[in-house]
Amino acid sequence: MARDRRPPGRRGLPGLGKLFDMVDFMYLSGWQKFFERRLQRYGSTVFTTPLFTKTVVATDHKAISALFDTIPFIQDYGFGSAVPPKPLVGDVAPSVFETGVLHDNPKAFYFSLLRHRATSLPAVFEEVLREYEVRWASRGRFAWRDEIETFTMDFVLRWILELKFDTAKVRLIYNNIFTNHLWRVARFFPWTRYSRSLRYYGEFVRAIEEASSFEAIMEIARTFGISDRAYVAKQIAFLTGMNSYLGLQNLFKSIVGELSSRADIRSDLDLQLRDAAPGALFSPRVRAVDEFVMEVLRQHPPVFFIFGRAIEDVVLESASGSFDIAKGERLMGVIPFAHDDPEAFPDPASFQPERFQDDEARAKLIWPRGIQERPADTADRTCPGKDVALLLAHAFCTALVTRYQWTVVKPITWDKHRYSLNVAAPMGELEVAGFTIRDERAGRPV
Ligand code: HEM
Repeated sequence: MARDRRPPGRRGLPGLGKLFDMVDFMYLSGWQKFFERRLQRYGSTVFTTPLFTKTVVATDHKAISALFDTIPFIQDYGFGSAVPPKPLVGDVAPSVFETGVLHDNPKAFYFSLLRHRATSLPAVFEEVLREYEVRWASRGRFAWRDEIETFTMDFVLRWILELKFDTAKVRLIYNNIFTNHLWRVARFFPWTRYSRSLRYYGEFVRAIEEASSFEAIMEIARTFGISDRAYVAKQIAFLTGMNSYLGLQNLFKSIVGELSSRADIRSDLDLQLRDAAPGALFSPRVRAVDEFVMEVLRQHPPVFFIFGRAIEDVVLESASGSFDIAKGERLMGVIPFAHDDPEAFPDPASFQPERFQDDEARAKLIWPRGIQERPADTADRTCPGKDVALLLAHAFCTALVTRYQWTVVKPITWDKHRYSLNVAAPMGELEVAGFTIRDERAGRPV
């Protein structure tokens, strides 16, 4: 095994070379081929590329693990090239991009807020889903992609904030928050997407502060030493609009995608769920559904890349040996590669939920930023919503399988080429025909 050495690869490239790498990554080869070629070229799971800025790319499980902790890696403002314009976060860095108390205290506050909201979760989810199912059943054909986004946003706002707000406005802000690259120019033109997003952001933050739930939210925040109302409203805007909404809607689409194209799994889950507790979405947790969701997460991790910058010289342990990472260097973890590693997940290309019957496989699922099976902590970088996200995925999957029938108009396809928001979700509009509500107990259409 190699000992303490620099990751192979090109470190400094003249401007044109770097530009070519970016174009190749984004548009020509696409992210997967781009990394595959370098893996082969360097014969190492860790290598350097001038992509974005000089970046050490980690593609194996062991090397990516370093990014789960805060020390010695910190999170810069933005995820790689995905950097939200400061005005769209109210000129207050969201806590996910902070380190120390500015990260840990808000995160402790989110944990507490989630605990406070736990009891209302099943009822709110049920209420929102019942409204949407009627709407879906009344339509001949519709784009489920857009409907899932609207449903998710509506649910998140009603659940966390007890707020009904124009979902189209919030979706416009957060569906595009990482792609307003020309915002410094766009801000001079009121009709541009960026200028509209900024207006809607102001409305959204005001609505949060005026929500009837906000006083109770402030009370929780104060117990963690956070008393600035505007600061809390801005953090909550990002928590709901970005963290919760973007992750959940992506996962829900992937669940729809996999269920739509796997009739055998659908009917098998249907039988198991009907046996367990007809009509119940949240309990008991049926293990086969959890395994299905975990396999969806393995094959379609909603977030592909995670980042960290070394704040001291570090030796990175990886499947290809130990590498020296210099203070200031950026590390990027490529989760889909770690999930496709046959050492960790044999026959990775095939969709096999039963692989998660094995606790060793469960312990390897990297999602979301950390190990799925380990508890998240205020001082680490793991998503505080990961367990609730899994619970919601279980409920959504249960509802789809036991309550509805539908057909997708076009075969479901997945893209491993382009890199954008929703990159992990199935492609296209997810056009659906013949959505019907079944009699849950008998399994027949009503
Ligand atoms: C399927 C749903 C979700 C996915 C895929 C997801 C994914 C992620 C990922 C990958 C990260 C790490 C980001 C990074 O540092 O690079 C993260 C962090 C975070 N997520 Fe989630 N998330 C989901 C749901 C939620 C929910 C429901 C909440 C609501 C509380 C939430 C709140 C957060 C917060 C606050 C962080 C920052 C953690 C930190 O800075 O330590 N997420 N999420």
